[in-house]
Amino acid sequence: MLANNLLSNNSHTNLTRIVVVGAGYVGLSNAILLAQPHLDTQVTLFDIDNDKIKQLQQKQSPLQDAEICDFLANKTLNLTATYHIADLYQDCDLIIIATPTNYDVATGKFDTSSVEASIQTIREQNASVPIIIKSTVPIGFTVTMHQKFDDNILFMPEFLREGQALYDNLYPSRIITGVTNKLANFADSLMSLYQLASKSHTNENPVTTLIMPPTEAEAVKLFANSYLATRIAFFNELDSFAEKQNLDSHAIITGVGLDPRIDTHYNNPSFGYGGYCLPKDTQQLKANYTGIPANLIHAIVDANNTRKRFIARQILNKNPSRIGVYRLSMKKDADNYRDSAILDIITLLQQHGLDITIYEPSLNDTQFQGCAVIHDLADFKHNHDLIVANRWHDELQNVADNVYSRDVFGFG
Ligand SMILES: NC(=O)c1ccc[n+]([C@@H]2O[C@H](COP(=O)([O-])OP(=O)(O)OC[C@H]3O[C@@H](n4cnc5c(N)ncnc54)[C@H](O)[C@@H]3O)[C@@H](O)[C@H]2O)c1
Repeated sequence: MLANNLLSNNSHTNLTRIVVVGAGYVGLSNAILLAQPHLDTQVTLFDIDNDKIKQLQQKQSPLQDAEICDFLANKTLNLTATYHIADLYQDCDLIIIATPTNYDVATGKFDTSSVEASIQTIREQNASVPIIIKSTVPIGFTVTMHQKFDDNILFMPEFLREGQALYDNLYPSRIITGVTNKLANFADSLMSLYQLASKSHTNENPVTTLIMPPTEAEAVKLFANSYLATRIAFFNELDSFAEKQNLDSHAIITGVGLDPRIDTHYNNPSFGYGGYCLPKDTQQLKANYTGIPANLIHAIVDANNTRKRFIARQILNKNPSRIGVYRLSMKKDADNYRDSAILDIITLLQQHGLDITIYEPSLNDTQFQGCAVIHDLADFKHNHDLIVANRWHDELQNVADNVYSRDVFGFG
């Protein structure tokens, strides 16, 4: 059902006391979004990480995110952060769960225990409050929770990018609610709240909202991320071909992308897709395909591993005596390197006995993943005959001849 409706200002007024569980990218950005004063809400943000909560109580962001930092420091918000769980869920109208669902190598799928444990605790304190799952979950998970608990549990896929988490919620690409028919009216109020919280309600082209069953909504999230991973893997594989054949990757990708059906965005080669979500979400979708004929879904995961091995081989072929890794982050100027592809490249190089040094300004330690960390950029540039950079930066200009990167649109 497509509900591209702009709802009136007061159609969410039954949703005023909101609890958000988990103060990471998803939880924190949602909590700030829904705590804006024009919504007349009161949001409580809960996390088991006391340090994170203490930082938030001092209006400091635990994450690098320009909008989150700005809103915490400069805007009025009806937001309280707490690590006390006693009675937390008793008097509230809505609870949003945004705890981690890490990929479990042993079971070959997501570890959803933090989400399940949160639902269990919520239901011990409050038998009926609607619960929104914002964490990414396996396809079919919400229905399993209906069977285990009750059907006052919804799934809303989250589409934010790390580093722009609040921005992406203020200007969402779409708002999707996965809900059973019984809660259709509630879903309308929820969509209204999210629309009013975003900047979209003032735009001429309002954000598209979709209501669908929870299993389909879960599938949207995993298929969307797997498409993005496929696109990255495709251009990376194109780039492997170009590099191996000594062809100009930049020229080929530009020519390919000028077909408007392909387009010129999201096409810059890298050492592999990484980050918290794409690696685990593609693995989970692959697990959901058990028993269903498919090649592509398996190939996405395999292609990324092949790309990382290819990059490591290209580096080894240069026979460097001293390798320096410039930045661990996937994106230029970011400090977030959770599951970054470069970490796997480092491991592969270490397996060949290579000694690697890292320059990463956001690291205070002197060692990381068995590598020495250098904090002085001039020393770093001076002491290595090969500098490996997933993303080019102008501060490497004076050692450009020593840099190995496949950032073909950022290089030089
Ligand atoms: N990061 C993204 O770009 C993104 C985008 C869309 C969806 N998601 C999904 O959202 C979920 C959360 O992702 P994130 O990036 O915000 O994670 P995160 O690791 O940044 O934050 C999770 C937070 O939950 C807290 N936590 C863990 N267990 C808890 C518990 N039992 N009770 C309360 N708090 C608990 C942790 O201390 C942490 O602060 C994951 O399922 C992820 O796949 C993430």
